[in-house]
Amino acid sequence: MNITIRPFALISSAFLAITTVYATDLTKAYEMPEANKIVEADLIAKPTKFTMPKECKLNSFESIERGKYLFHNLNSRVAKEPTPKGLTKPKKGEVKLYGNCVACHNIEGAIGGGTVGPSLEAYSKNFIETKARDAQFVYQKIADARVDNKDTSMTINLTTKMMNEQEICDLTAYILQPKTEKKSKK
Ligand code: HEC
Repeated sequence: MNITIRPFALISSAFLAITTVYATDLTKAYEMPEANKIVEADLIAKPTKFTMPKECKLNSFESIERGKYLFHNLNSRVAKEPTPKGLTKPKKGEVKLYGNCVACHNIEGAIGGGTVGPSLEAYSKNFIETKARDAQFVYQKIADARVDNKDTSMTINLTTKMMNEQEICDLTAYILQPKTEKKSKK
């Protein structure tokens, strides 16, 4: 019989035996919260359908102004223009998040509009007048885009309560409104 001694194999099996005997069960040394529960709590709720509220005033000048402000600004800390009428002013020390839609979408008057999402320029002419889209579509898209595109990279705004119904109405009003600014700035 041909026996080969492999020193490395001997050492490692001895090491394994020792650790098996002496290793204490660490799972009992501290509390183990149920990981599933933690993950579940962090998950965003399922794609949710919303109906545009009747209170949405799509032709209201004030609503359009608020929508424009939300669309072009990131948050209350960096926004330079005065907060438009009807938009909740953050309390002292608080930072209110805005839409920052311009990070992904171009639109009339946008400064460095992003290209991750489709351009929303001439939206009224191209999509509303042609009846390819309607206000409800735009409202749902901003509220929770996952309903018609499960792989969307849009921010989910209403299901997450990042925005409220009024703010989604305002953004919808702004997008639907024919714009006077002709070109976006680079
Ligand atoms: C991270 C990038 C991103 C951000 C931020 C973003 N979007 Fe989008 N948006 C997209 C993409 C990508 C699409 C196309 C895919 C889809 O429909 O889900 C889209 C689609 C849309 C559409 C549908 C256009 C059409 O008719 O097909 C609208 C309207 C829209 N976004 C509005 C907004 C508004 C308003 C905001 C700000 C609250 C916003 N988006 C923020 C990426 C973004």
